[in-house]
Amino acid sequence: MTNKLKYFIGNWKMFGDFTSYKIVNKINQYIYKRKGAKSSKIVLCVPNTLIYPFRNKLKRRVIYFGAQNCYQQEGYGPFTGAVSAGMLKKAGAEYIILGHSENRSEGETVQLIKKKIISALNQKMNIIFCIGETYLEKKRGRTFSVIRNQIMSSLEKKFNKNKIILAYEPIWSIGSNIIPNIKDLCATIKFIKNDFKKTFKTRKSPRVLYGGSVNKNNVKMLSTVTEIDGFLIGGASQSAKKFIDIIKNYYK
Ligand code: 13P
Repeated sequence: MTNKLKYFIGNWKMFGDFTSYKIVNKINQYIYKRKGAKSSKIVLCVPNTLIYPFRNKLKRRVIYFGAQNCYQQEGYGPFTGAVSAGMLKKAGAEYIILGHSENRSEGETVQLIKKKIISALNQKMNIIFCIGETYLEKKRGRTFSVIRNQIMSSLEKKFNKNKIILAYEPIWSIGSNIIPNIKDLCATIKFIKNDFKKTFKTRKSPRVLYGGSVNKNNVKMLSTVTEIDGFLIGGASQSAKKFIDIIKNYYK
């Protein structure tokens, strides 16, 4: 069974300043006016500096905001440059991306990601937990085992699964304009859902997003993988037109 609600989540990465509000405003207005918007959830994971000003300024807000990472310790403490999940929540973030490959490649370990997940769960935030294999791992046929390891080493049975959305982002497809072939993608998403259910003995399938070079031209094809519950969109979410075109074409 697939979950009907579709997520379109923008990951702005290191992009944007106060003038980028116009992008956010356009996206919000489009969703506000769009009929049937109820079946989709729009989240923009913007830099920490922009969460509060954007959220505060938006009128008739129908989109949500998220952060892109957090520090593993909760609350406040002597950690120069760090921002905790609770601080992000106070700024207005309801979602948080954790385990993104760009952070893993800078030394973020599975244990560290787990600590971050726990701290965000304690804040009752929604987590977008990123997983995915490198090109070499794919070539060696290790996609499923890599994904399984990433899930097993950062999640636990006792975690509130309702607050965790998985995002399958093959590293080789991020920013490359290459997406997996549909058959492989379908098999991988099904694997993630089934393996997750078996491992954590959950009745419900987890929500699984796809991320990596999603754009207006490939989203229709990606939509044929009905098991996908939405998309984590990088580059194309930094433009209101590109982001809106993805949503339009998805529902076309
Ligand atoms: P692109 O959409 O730019 O490939 O980035 C994907 C991504 O990393 C989202 O988290």
